[in-house]
Amino acid sequence: MISVSQFMTVKRVLKWSIRAILVALILAFLVGFVAYWRSTNDCDRNAGPPANPMKAIRFCEYGSPDVLKFEDVEKPVPNDDQVLIKVRAASLNFIDPGVMRGPWPLRLMSGLRKPEKTGLGNDVAGQVEAVGKNVTLFKAGDEVFGVARPSLAEYACARERALVIKPANVTFEQAGCVAWAGFTALQGLRKGNIQPGQKVLINGATGGVGTFAVQIAKSFGAEVTGVCSTGKMDLVRSIGADHVIDYTKEDFTKGDQRYDVIFDNVGNHSFSDRRRVLTPNGVCVLAGIGGAGLHSETWGRIVGNFKADLLSRFVRQKFVGYVTKLDKEDLKLLSDLMQTGKVTPVIDRTYKLSETAEAMRYFEEGHARGKIVITVEQDNKK
Ligand SMILES: NC(=O)c1ccc[n+]([C@@H]2O[C@H](COP(=O)([O-])OP(=O)(O)OC[C@H]3O[C@@H](n4cnc5c(N)ncnc54)[C@H](OP(=O)(O)O)[C@@H]3O)[C@@H](O)[C@H]2O)c1
Repeated sequence: MISVSQFMTVKRVLKWSIRAILVALILAFLVGFVAYWRSTNDCDRNAGPPANPMKAIRFCEYGSPDVLKFEDVEKPVPNDDQVLIKVRAASLNFIDPGVMRGPWPLRLMSGLRKPEKTGLGNDVAGQVEAVGKNVTLFKAGDEVFGVARPSLAEYACARERALVIKPANVTFEQAGCVAWAGFTALQGLRKGNIQPGQKVLINGATGGVGTFAVQIAKSFGAEVTGVCSTGKMDLVRSIGADHVIDYTKEDFTKGDQRYDVIFDNVGNHSFSDRRRVLTPNGVCVLAGIGGAGLHSETWGRIVGNFKADLLSRFVRQKFVGYVTKLDKEDLKLLSDLMQTGKVTPVIDRTYKLSETAEAMRYFEEGHARGKIVITVEQDNKK
């Protein structure tokens, strides 16, 4: 039995807690409301023509690929630690449609009402045009590739640690589509602790990330099985896979084969189904959620990945997620793999910079055969 005074204390605590929660909610709403309407970008701020123009892809509002405009913008000026690159090629990555469409969870970082940053693109390959005074590794004229943001433009600025020299046997188009997909494949396979001789399955072997994952896994000396749709089996074999499974005819989780590493680009199988085909100490790398663009399964698969990661903490087999990171050593390794012919970027289609919106529409279908490349060369011949 609680006394009257104890009851009154509990009642008072409850009353004040509810008031505090209500005030916090109202404050959060007001702050969110003000932040939403204050959120702006350089399309609003710089209405006049740029003083030193270059062509670039710009999006002033979130939305479908129709928001991507090929426009004159201010040519970037490198700071002391940056390299200015005359862009020859760039590519589209999984994150780009997300940044363009601005789903609400992403808007907390990218701008609530409008995109804060109006340029697009991460991967880059091109020629060094100028360098900042602290840059020691590159000089004007060097041919480089790596990461520059935004890269869908005639010129882009990058930090020194985001670039390496392009091997001579690799074209600008090939080099311009390596960085982000290559990092995702390489870092994911490492997360799976890949070892020579292991059996590795790549679910989603034919897209931007998958085609790198198959080749990088082979370069580690693994026995690789690629999962893809019927029309792409030859592609997966041609990049070195030892076995190919057509997902329209066969479910890899129902087979007898066990895998040391599953590099799962799709996340379309349950935790228990994937566990069944992992070896006792096997690792399932939660690399992705299927094709580019938002689709009906997007949120369900994201939740599924978190759930699998959590559940695997109670069993021997591991399900591990990761976030792709820019890493100079990894960029060097990808460069070496291309130089020695162990990895050759697979290019599905090439579009001009001015055709980026069209490229994005194709990419968002989520069934690319390798990478979608954007070339800037043509637009430079003005
Ligand atoms: N972890 C990270 O930090 C990180 C970073 C970047 C990207 N990613 C992930 O990487 C994934 C792939 O990105 P991407 O750029 O390679 O996309 P993409 O080029 O659009 O490729 C997606 C691939 O998924 C395949 N696919 C779709 N449904 C499938 C199914 N049911 N079974 C097997 N394969 C299927 C498609 O092959 P078909 O045409 O044969 O269906 C296509 O080749 C994305 O889901 C993304 O989340 C993760």
